[in-house]
Amino acid sequence: MIVSVYTAISSWNSGRIMWPKMVQMTNLSVGYMLKKTLRSSFPSIYHALWRIKEFMRTGHFTKRWEHYYEANTGKSPWITDAIPELSNIQLPAHVDTILDVGCASGRSFIPFDRKLKLWGIDIVPYGRIKWVRPFSNLTYEQITVEKLTERFEREEIDLSHTFVFECGTLMYIGADYQNRFFNACQKRGCRNFMFLDYPPGTVGYEDEHLKISEDLFKKSDSSMNEKLKVYTLMESSRD
Ligand SMILES: C[S@@+](CC[C@H](N)C(=O)[O-])C[C@H]1O[C@@H](n2cnc3c(N)ncnc32)[C@H](O)[C@@H]1O
Repeated sequence: MIVSVYTAISSWNSGRIMWPKMVQMTNLSVGYMLKKTLRSSFPSIYHALWRIKEFMRTGHFTKRWEHYYEANTGKSPWITDAIPELSNIQLPAHVDTILDVGCASGRSFIPFDRKLKLWGIDIVPYGRIKWVRPFSNLTYEQITVEKLTERFEREEIDLSHTFVFECGTLMYIGADYQNRFFNACQKRGCRNFMFLDYPPGTVGYEDEHLKISEDLFKKSDSSMNEKLKVYTLMESSRD
């Protein structure tokens, strides 16, 4: 059904089906809603369908994130480098944990190894990840941001000493869960965030960007990529 909705929309887009305007709009919004629901509720199925769609389009299976969690230096050497924005970060002294959602091979953890508790989550099993180094104090969970959000909403987890970080992960999540994730972290006491993501309106990332209000953060350019922005909300910057 999803494939037929997608095919209908694609055909409409290329002008092969001349449906009345009302039907066209209904098809578009149904397709959009289906896509949105599927992506937020069943990210693994969404990812699998995305790969099938890409296979039909290109004739081969595109690897979307594998090179991130396989630390594939051949394809993208920078993927194993420390994230510059984290190298000299001044965290409040009481912060004892970094939570990286969508941590892939753990490059965000490099500056904090043996200093903080490292807590990474991603959608793949632990065994699929080639860590950029053998971290000693790492807790990894195979869980989506969406499911983690629900846990934070449900359980009284103390995040007051946790620094929440993400780089290029929230962009793949719908506005509802992005906001729920951010709100749930705050509700559990988190006061220190850094998100590296694309701002709304970035060319090439029309659907994949930060969907939490930018006004809540201090915003600066990222040295990693001219389109990427660094969104920070830190205790010290508000004191
Ligand atoms: C563009 S990669 C960035 C990886 C890593 N943050 C980095 O900068 O090297 C996006 C990461 O988000 C993960 N991801 C995608 N959707 C996710 C979801 N719903 N929940 C948790 N992780 C997700 C992918 O598996 C992948 O590791």
